[in-house]
Amino acid sequence: MDKIIVRGGASLHGSVEISGMKNAALPIIYACVLVEDKCVIENVPDVRDVALSLNILRDMGAKITKLSKNTVEIDCTEISCGMSHPELVRKIRASYYLLGSEFGRFGEAKVAYPGGCDFGGRPIDQHIKGFEALGGKVKADCDKVEISSEYGPKGTNIFFDIVTVGATINVMLAAALAEGTTIIENAAREPHIVDLANFLNTCGARISGAGTDVIKIKGVNSLHGCTYAIIPDMIEAGTYMVAAAATGGCVKLTNVIPKHLESVSSKIEETGAIVDEYDDSVVVTGRDVIRKANVKTHPYPGFPTDMQPQMAVLLCLANGVSYVSEGVYEKRFRYVEELKRMGASIKVDGRTAVIEGGKPLHGADVRAVDLRAGVAMIIAALCAEGTTEISDIHLIERGYDDVVGKLREMGADIEKVSYPD
Ligand code: UD1
Repeated sequence: MDKIIVRGGASLHGSVEISGMKNAALPIIYACVLVEDKCVIENVPDVRDVALSLNILRDMGAKITKLSKNTVEIDCTEISCGMSHPELVRKIRASYYLLGSEFGRFGEAKVAYPGGCDFGGRPIDQHIKGFEALGGKVKADCDKVEISSEYGPKGTNIFFDIVTVGATINVMLAAALAEGTTIIENAAREPHIVDLANFLNTCGARISGAGTDVIKIKGVNSLHGCTYAIIPDMIEAGTYMVAAAATGGCVKLTNVIPKHLESVSSKIEETGAIVDEYDDSVVVTGRDVIRKANVKTHPYPGFPTDMQPQMAVLLCLANGVSYVSEGVYEKRFRYVEELKRMGASIKVDGRTAVIEGGKPLHGADVRAVDLRAGVAMIIAALCAEGTTEISDIHLIERGYDDVVGKLREMGADIEKVSYPD
C-alpha cells in the first residue's frame, strides 16, 4: 500500500511546470478511435487515467507507441468494436467516450458501464438522449451500454437539458463522421471541449462554435492522422496556485493559459493573495492573513467543481466564516470528514459547507476519498503542524503528474512511501 507523508510547515517557493490537461487528453485519446491513421499526441500528462485509457485502446487492437514521457503515437487503423476489457473500463469515468467514438466509427458500440469518482449519482441520460437523437438504439443497464443503428449516426439538433461536459464530448465524437450536420445547444464550454474540437478539426473534421453553448458539427467521410499538443491542465495549475496561497509562499507556474484560470485567480485574490499574469505563466504570492470568501461551483467559465476541495482548505485557514456551495454534483463533500480529523471546523448542510476558518490544522492519518479531495489533503497537510499520512493515493495519481516531485522542488517536505499490503 502506498502513502504520501507530509511534514507540514514549509511554504512553497520557486516554479512549477504545469502538465497537459488530463480531461483534454482523455477525450482526444478516445477520439483517435475515429481516425484510421496515426496520430501523434504531445504534452500528454503521465497519469494513471491516461495509462488506463491507452491500455483500453490497446485491448481493442490499437498500436500505441510511447515516443517520449509525454508524447504518444496512437494508430487505431486495425481497431475492433466492443473489445474493451470491462474491468479496465469500470475503473475510469472517461471510458464512456468510447460510446461516442465506437458509434461514430462503426455505427454501433458495446462498452461496460463506466466507473469514476463517487460524487453521488452520475447518470448518463443526456449521453443516451444524444445518441438516440443521432439515430442510435441504446440499451443500457448497470453492467454495460450498447448502441446499434442501421446506417450509423445521422446529423440532428440536440438541446441538452443540463450543461454536461461528458455528453457534449460524446455527441461531438459520434457526430464527427455522421451523415449531415449536428447542432448541439446548451453545450458545455470548457477549454477541453475546445481542445477536442481543435484536435478533430486538425484531423479534417468540421466543427465550429466549441467554447460557446452552440456547437455545429458537419459530418465528414473520414479523418486523417495529425500531430497535436494537449492544452495545459487548468485544474493542476489551480491546485498549485491554492497551495502557494495557503502556505504563504510565492510560486511561478509555467506552461499555463491564464485565461482558463480567471475564476480561480480572482477567488484566490479575494482571499488576499496576489496573482500576477503573464503570457503563459502566473505568479502567486501568498499573504500572512487569508481573508474569508464564498465560493459557488458552476460549469465553465464559473468556478470549477474540480477546484472546490482545494479552495475549501484555503478557507479553513481564513479569518472568518466562508460558505462553499456545490453547484454541479449532489455529493462532493465526502472529504470534509477527513479535513475534520486535521482540526478543521466545517459543517455540511446539503450542497453547502460552512467553514469556520482560523482553527489551526494538525497532522493526522487521512484518506484521499477521490482525486481532487486527495490533493486537497496534501495542501492541508502542507499547512498543518506535524506529520500527515495520506492513504489511497492511487486516486491522486489518476490525475496528477508527479505531484510529490513537483511539490518537493518547491520546498515541501513530502515523500511517497510503500508499505507491504
Ligand atoms: C467532467 C470531468 C470532471 C468534472 C466535470 C464537471 C472528465 C473525465 N471529468 O465529468 O472532472 O468534475 O466534468 O466539470 O472530464 N449529468 C446528468 N446526466 C448526464 C450527464 C451528466 O445528470 O447524462 C450531471 C452529472 O451527474 C453532474 C453534472 O451533470 O451532476 C455535470 O456532469 P458532467 O459535466 O457530464 O461531468 P463529467 O463529464 O462526468
